[in-house]
Amino acid sequence: MKIGIDKLAFATTDKYMDLRELAAARNVDPDKYTIGIGQDLQAVVPPTQDIVTLAAAAAQKLLTPAIAQRISTVIVATESGIDNSKAAAIYVKHLLGLGDFVRTVELKEACYSATAGLQFARGIVALNPQEEVLVIAADIARYGLNTPGEVTQGAGAVAMIVSQNPRVLAIEDTSVSLTKDIMDFWRPLYATEAFVDGKYSTSVYIDCFREVLTRYQQLTGRPLADFSALLFHLPFTKMGKKALEAVLGDRADATAERFRRALAASQAACRQVGNLYTGSLYLALMSYLQNGEAQAGDRLGLFSYGSGAEGEFFTGILQPGFADYVLPLSSALRDRQQVSVAEYERLFNQQLGMTAEDINFSTEGDSAPFVLAGQKDHQRQYRAN
Ligand code: HMG
Repeated sequence: MKIGIDKLAFATTDKYMDLRELAAARNVDPDKYTIGIGQDLQAVVPPTQDIVTLAAAAAQKLLTPAIAQRISTVIVATESGIDNSKAAAIYVKHLLGLGDFVRTVELKEACYSATAGLQFARGIVALNPQEEVLVIAADIARYGLNTPGEVTQGAGAVAMIVSQNPRVLAIEDTSVSLTKDIMDFWRPLYATEAFVDGKYSTSVYIDCFREVLTRYQQLTGRPLADFSALLFHLPFTKMGKKALEAVLGDRADATAERFRRALAASQAACRQVGNLYTGSLYLALMSYLQNGEAQAGDRLGLFSYGSGAEGEFFTGILQPGFADYVLPLSSALRDRQQVSVAEYERLFNQQLGMTAEDINFSTEGDSAPFVLAGQKDHQRQYRAN
């Protein structure tokens, strides 16, 4: 039985900042951000948006009454959790109006956990082929004002339906996972911004990619030429380039050139929103499917990475008609308002952090389908907008 991704959708905030303006404000050459890091625009997060509202906004695009009936499980993968106990998936299930006879859970392992969610979903569908699983990757990447990581912030969610006879990508059985206990990036419970050993994180990412790819090739005997594209977790677009070039070296044959074109197509959306943490690999997949040379029957290789650290290399075969089930990125990226650096800084400092106070946010002018209206009696107040 084929099992995999049946439908995909993306949501981000309705605000962005031009990173050339950030470069000017930080007294940095703009080429460092747009070429050295490879990012052009960055999603800016108003206090009325968090992982629950973003997850629900992405998932809502996928749902029809019939699909909603078939969903047995909602998995929200995130490293920007809003509660140490209650799963974000419960809030999302409520906002989406799903029935009560549904399983809901939140998963965590840095940027990797959506891939765990996808694999767990495959297991659920294998045991119960009539069921569908809603897997949502939602995050807000925050490093802090005026830090080296600032240019690699971002926000958004990718939602996927996992089912039998999937219409986008049938996931193949062989995959390779690798876990090592290292401190390249982490977020202690008392911190609202990440701690990161930036340069180290980029080198362990590449080492991890090499290791899982090598082992995958040892297990399957499959040459790189069997793939039409390799897709990457993209914390910033240059990271994908570094990883791809690390395995291609100075190769300039047809396979290497095909991979380079595919990488550029997969990077297009990330360039405009930044790091989605758990969602980045899946946004790269959507971006490739909408901007690249993808064709039914192609085999794609996907590298998922989460700091801490865990990586997985897995593969999938594109299904006939896949393009109809990858919801357009263009509307989410186009219908946004540009904000100044001063406005970004103001909004950054307003985000609901670790406060126990009651707070009300103005939701006026917020175009998102779901909003966080504030906090009352230690409870977040969500509503449809
Ligand atoms: P930095 O201090 O800005 O680094 O930190 P840099 O000074 O080396 O500059 C970066 C690049 O810009 C270099 O290119 C420079 O040469 C170039 P590279 O050598 O890397 O190819 N450059 C210029 N290019 C053109 N014109 C210029 C110019 N000036 C310099 N004028 C760093 C960069 C990425 C480390 C920082 O932004 C950071 O710490 N980011 C956060 C960490 C991160 O994203 N790590 C990625 C791997 S870990 C991961 O993916 C997991 C993660 O998503 C989290 C999770 O799993 O939960 C982060």
